[in-house]
Amino acid sequence: MRKIAILNQKGGVGKTTTVVNVSAALALEGHRVLVIDLDPQAHLTIHLGADQAADAKGVYDVLTGSVAMGEAIHPVRNNLWLLGANIDLVGAESELINEVGREIILKKAVESVEDRFDFLLIDCPPSLGLLTLNALAAVDEVIIPIQPHFLALQGFSRLLQTVTLVHTRINPALRVSAILMCMFDSRTSLSSEVREDIKQFLSGARNSSHPWAQADVIPVHIRPNIKLAEAPSHGQTIFEYEPHCNGAADYEAVAAFLSGEPTEAGTADVSETVETTEMNEVAAVEETEIAATDAANTNETPQDSPQSVSLDREKNETAESISQEQSTPHFGI
Ligand SMILES: Nc1ncnc2c1ncn2[C@@H]1O[C@H](COP(=O)(O)OP(=O)(O)OP(=O)(O)O)[C@@H](O)[C@H]1O
Ligand SMILES: [Mg+2]
Repeated sequence: MRKIAILNQKGGVGKTTTVVNVSAALALEGHRVLVIDLDPQAHLTIHLGADQAADAKGVYDVLTGSVAMGEAIHPVRNNLWLLGANIDLVGAESELINEVGREIILKKAVESVEDRFDFLLIDCPPSLGLLTLNALAAVDEVIIPIQPHFLALQGFSRLLQTVTLVHTRINPALRVSAILMCMFDSRTSLSSEVREDIKQFLSGARNSSHPWAQADVIPVHIRPNIKLAEAPSHGQTIFEYEPHCNGAADYEAVAAFLSGEPTEAGTADVSETVETTEMNEVAAVEETEIAATDAANTNETPQDSPQSVSLDREKNETAESISQEQSTPHFGI
């Protein structure tokens, strides 16, 4: 079984959306997939339309030892099983604080069902506490979703430091396998620059012993797509809610990349090469709006427009944040 944690302690970068839709795509490809909701917000559980009834068993019960893993997981789609979360999980970190081996409870639970699945994807909470440590102890791979915006890489070094600690002390098999660019808007230079900065940083670590030495940016990015934001409130994956939108195409391509089963478009950056009507329509509306603004401000050059000034500022602040992170002592772990 391939075991992957989707982790970034930054909130709202696309972790849950990625777990739901990559696992759904893998399940549609015919793989047997288990997903674990390790976030007390229970967004994964809700997104899959599997909100826990008060007496339903979930990850809290497994971590506190009141139920076996095999009894707590349940099928939520064809080929897709869930170990769900509910609000009780909030208390798990403090309840387990004096437990011996508290970081490896989930690892042992996962091992007990390992033979039943081809893929495990864990949706981590936006923090680096005991729940995340359990995820990192239980998997072999970490995929880090990043939203390329203002200060996107703030906290990146702390995240890598946590992976290194777990790699050194608990789980030598652990490595960062990939970075996934989410809500990546190729029309802004900031998106491309954040991606280039990450690629450059990763290539600098290529021959090192760091657990991210082999990591690379996945050559498919997830475009901003309103359908991806609407699907959770319907308790549906993107393939059920709007199977022909950009979001479905992008997540299908990511799943194909991970499983080594390229789609017709191959594993090239389909998000960049396949311009759909949806994207063109948005661009057309924006061009019209910009043209109207330009006509109203005939003295204003494009470089002076408020949009480009704010993008330049964000770019500089992002670059500063990376260099500050890189110069902090813990970046050289
Ligand atoms: N590609 C996308 N285009 C548009 N909206 C998106 C996209 N990906 C995610 N979203 C929306 O952005 C919000 C944050 O996404 P998501 O919940 O997946 O992030 P997260 O990292 O799991 O957040 P948290 O840290 O709170 O767990 C959600 O409302 C989601 O529907
Ligand atoms: Mg989430």
